[in-house]
Amino acid sequence: MEVKTSLLDNMIGVGDMVLLEPLSEDSFLGNLKKRFDHSEIYTYIGSVVISMNPYRSLPIYTPEKVEEYRNRNFYELSPHIYALADEAYRSLRDQDKDQCILITGESGAGKTEASKLVMSYVAAVCGKGHEVNKVKEQLLQSNPVLEAFGNAKTVRNDNSSRFGKYMDIEFDFKGDPLGGVISNYLLEKSRVVKQPRGERNFHVFYQLLSGASDDTLRKLKLDRDFSKYNYLSLDSAAVSGLDDAANFRTVRNAMQIVGFMEDEVQSVLELVAAVLKLGNIEFKPESRCNGTDESRVKDKNDLKEMCELLGIEQSVLERAFSYRTVEAKMEKVSTTLNVAQAYYARDALAKNLYSRLFSWLVTRINESIQAQTKARHKVMGVLDIYGFEIFEDNSFEQFIINYCNEKLQQIFIELTLREEQEEYVREGIEWTNIEYFNNAIICDLIENNQNGILAMLDEECLRPGTVTDETFLDKLNTICADHQHFESRLNKNSKFLNDHSLPHNCFRIQHYAGKVLYRVEGFVDKNNDLLYRDLSQAMYKANHSLIKQLFPEGNPAKVNLKRPLTAGFQFRASVGTLMRNLQTKNPNYIRCIKPNDKKASHIFTDSLVRHQVRYLGLMENVRVRRAGYAFRQPYEPCLERYKMLCKRTWPHWKGPAREGVEVLMADLQIPTEEISYGRSKIFIRNPRTLFFLEEKRKQCLQDLATLIQKIYRGWKCRTHFLLMKKSQIVVAAWYRRYAQQKKYRNIKSATTMVQSYTRGWQARKLLRELKHQKRCEEAVTTIAAFWHGTQARLELRRLKQEVRNKHAVTVIWAYWQGTKARRELRQLKEEARNKHAVSVIWAGWQGTKVRREYRKFFRANAGKKIYDFTIQRIIQKYFLGLKSSMPSMSPIDRKWPARPYGFLDGVHTELRKIFHHWRCKKYRDQFTEEKKAVYEEKLEASEIFKDKKALYPNSVSQPFKGDYLEISKNPKYQKLNSAVDEKVLLADVVNKINRANGKGTPRIFLLTKKNFVLADQKTGQVKASIPLPDVTSVSVSTQKDGFFALKLKEGSASAVKGDFLLSSEHLIEIITKLHRIGATAADREKLKVDISDEFLVQFKQDKVCVKFIQSSPKNGNSISCKRKNNRLLEVSVPTSP
Ligand SMILES: Nc1ncnc2c1ncn2[C@@H]1O[C@H](COP(=O)(O)OP(=O)(O)OP(=O)(O)O)[C@@H](O)[C@H]1O
Ligand SMILES: [Mg+2]
Repeated sequence: MEVKTSLLDNMIGVGDMVLLEPLSEDSFLGNLKKRFDHSEIYTYIGSVVISMNPYRSLPIYTPEKVEEYRNRNFYELSPHIYALADEAYRSLRDQDKDQCILITGESGAGKTEASKLVMSYVAAVCGKGHEVNKVKEQLLQSNPVLEAFGNAKTVRNDNSSRFGKYMDIEFDFKGDPLGGVISNYLLEKSRVVKQPRGERNFHVFYQLLSGASDDTLRKLKLDRDFSKYNYLSLDSAAVSGLDDAANFRTVRNAMQIVGFMEDEVQSVLELVAAVLKLGNIEFKPESRCNGTDESRVKDKNDLKEMCELLGIEQSVLERAFSYRTVEAKMEKVSTTLNVAQAYYARDALAKNLYSRLFSWLVTRINESIQAQTKARHKVMGVLDIYGFEIFEDNSFEQFIINYCNEKLQQIFIELTLREEQEEYVREGIEWTNIEYFNNAIICDLIENNQNGILAMLDEECLRPGTVTDETFLDKLNTICADHQHFESRLNKNSKFLNDHSLPHNCFRIQHYAGKVLYRVEGFVDKNNDLLYRDLSQAMYKANHSLIKQLFPEGNPAKVNLKRPLTAGFQFRASVGTLMRNLQTKNPNYIRCIKPNDKKASHIFTDSLVRHQVRYLGLMENVRVRRAGYAFRQPYEPCLERYKMLCKRTWPHWKGPAREGVEVLMADLQIPTEEISYGRSKIFIRNPRTLFFLEEKRKQCLQDLATLIQKIYRGWKCRTHFLLMKKSQIVVAAWYRRYAQQKKYRNIKSATTMVQSYTRGWQARKLLRELKHQKRCEEAVTTIAAFWHGTQARLELRRLKQEVRNKHAVTVIWAYWQGTKARRELRQLKEEARNKHAVSVIWAGWQGTKVRREYRKFFRANAGKKIYDFTIQRIIQKYFLGLKSSMPSMSPIDRKWPARPYGFLDGVHTELRKIFHHWRCKKYRDQFTEEKKAVYEEKLEASEIFKDKKALYPNSVSQPFKGDYLEISKNPKYQKLNSAVDEKVLLADVVNKINRANGKGTPRIFLLTKKNFVLADQKTGQVKASIPLPDVTSVSVSTQKDGFFALKLKEGSASAVKGDFLLSSEHLIEIITKLHRIGATAADREKLKVDISDEFLVQFKQDKVCVKFIQSSPKNGNSISCKRKNNRLLEVSVPTSP
């Protein structure tokens, strides 16, 4: 939906001066300043746009802005030049009304910029297409060309237009541009030859010298150095922010776009160069014989070059600078020119050359941009013309310019009032006369054909005799003396005789915008604008097509003896044409104001603006606009804007808009004299009333905003609530679903449980029934048995009775036995069956449970496969584990890895056994024969003593050395060695126990295969040598002691003294060796070894009991042996701790 806005929205100050309250010059300026300070450079006076020059680029000319203002009503948005351009363009396109846009203001106020903005806006909003775009481009590009030749830097503006410009842009019925026509007014040609201090010549001279290539400059015989040219002012040749070289390229490019041919451009540049050269021509006096001074060209080089450029014969031009030919009807009189006259002639030629070139350029551009079709077209004129000029020293130019502005003001008043009046008529509102100042009287003072100032100036110029500026002033003083807007010191009625602000050589005119004092000096000359005919003829003779065209009067074939038209006359005529042109069009005004003299942004010089407001007649503008009604608005937007102020019109008014507005105004009690109702618009007389409405609307909008806020918040909460409610239902539904699912699962599992219980109960019941049935069957059997018994007994009785047969008893007994056995068997069978049944039911139940639980995980046969696989895997793991943890190869290593699984128990034990046997075998395989014998001995010792004697475990680790005394090597035992003829199997020191007291004496004990010898330890003397066959047995205790008794055969020679009781550390070895000898001797019995803690020995005739007792370690660690009495020898062996 399009948002309806209004100029009245967000206003800074007031956007339309018509609404200013109270209206005074101060409030007017205050409003301008306020808006200017807020970068609001545009303000309206009704449909007139006041434009303040911001002197900085503002972001208000963007394509977005163009779109914003496009097709919007004038008062809809804040004031903008685009609003005016849009309004003009739309009424041209849609209402077929030709338009003109009049842009006025003083130099530097922004007229040219404004005209460009209008053109660019129109170009942006009008139609598109290849042809249209080309036309647009040509129209827009005509600006840089004209600006280069017609603009210059002045003290007031770096890009000051030194000519007036009016451009008609032509459109077809669709509003697409077709072409245009440009008119130029009064180029300030005096600038070509002389510029005021701080100003420059026209831009093109500087652009050419800065921007042209070396080659071009050479062809034009120019030097890049500005200082070489008299016509170029040097003090301000360079202007900051102005790039002459770049601008030259822009101008060349623009000329190309506009349609200039290459040779045309070249000719134009040649003319520009010629003007520069002309300025350098200097003259010197030369005395003639008749006493007069004649001028001569000083340095002919520049003259020569200029003539070469333009194809002029040098002598012809040289002569034209020295002589002047005056032609009267039949006569031709040639007079010489003095130096001053020569300079005058040179400058006049330069000015003419340049101004005619400029006019030619305009004509040439017009040729290019003119509409191609002859069909009727709509026209929009844009007038960019100098505004009112009031300087300290005002001359002919200011007079002309101000005259033009008077004319513009006149048509402004005329057209504004006419428009106002037309609107009143259109709207059916009574017209009340408006009081305003009509400047027609001033226009008449200047332009009146009989006694107007311009007419008198022309008269004076054409008059024979001596004509000076003073004679012209005298004439004015006589003729205009009575005019109320003319003031002069020497006026006839000498009203101003004592007015010292009015010098004698000046006259003053009270323009509508203020009084202006004009100095008459130069009026006549400037009006005459004389160019000597010799010069124009010299130019015509040039071999240069453009020059020839520019000076047609130089054609000798068309010599015109009439004086050329004066400048004043020409200007008046062209202004007349312009005014007539403008009067046929719908005017749109842009009044440009310059905020300061410094060309600076943000500075608002009050006095300067006040001055411009005055001479632009802006207050007058406002007054005219406000004379009737200050504000008007069509009914629809009015009702739309204020309908909220009345309950009956809010929010919708059903009837026609006008009635709605009437109801609204009545409701607001607006006094009837304040408003008038037109056909389509309401007219409000006083701005106060409008502001009252606006204020009310503002308040109401706040209330409405609150209402909207309230409704919106309500809606938002409601929407949120509904969303929450919907969400809650979804959440609840999900939760219920979840709860029901959970409940269902519980019920299902409970049902399964109950089912399984019921099945169990049923099974048990069935079992009971079966059991009962069984028991019944048994009972039947029992009964049958009883019955059979009864029968049998009856039979028996019968038999008893009958035959008293013994056999019957046997039969009954057999029956009885059989019955008993069967019953018992049945009972056992029953018990077994019951047990089996219970285990089957239990296993079944377990199976069912497990299957139910794991059914989902199993496939058919998977169990068996998994089982096989698991077993295989376990066995594999078991073997691999075993491999990595095998014990060492030492047979005594008892380590064996732990059994990982119970079911491998048998295998594990078997493997251990196998491994051990294999390891032992491997160990045995390493044995030498000697070592084998040693182990055989050790094995034998084990067989004899293992687990029988406590001393044995200690001996296991001791090697059986045999010869502890090294008897054969030790010289000490040489004698003893020689006494023994057998190989000594064992030699050791033993303790021989004295048979009488039990004390021990050390003796050497030698053992050979045949006997054992006891010898003195010190002397080696043999004390006893006993043949082994005489030794019947050996007795030892079970304890740790080394005592042993060698029992001798009774009756043998050796046994005379009795048995030997000896003690040795190597007891185990001695006895083992003795035992082995006995075992290997074929002729003897095996030696008997008694192991007991009590044994008898034969000492001589006595049989003495040797008793081993355990003594506590407290009594010492040594073994003691004591003869207790005849029959007892006690050996106390300390218990090991
Ligand atoms: N709307 C604008 N935005 C920004 N700068 C501006 C605007 N209008 C004018 N100016 C500045 O002011 C300078 C003078 O403007 P412009 O040449 O349009 O003045 P003018 O009224 O045509 O003067 P003259 O009568 O001397 O030709 C411009 O060169 C530009 O720098
Ligand atoms: Mg300008």
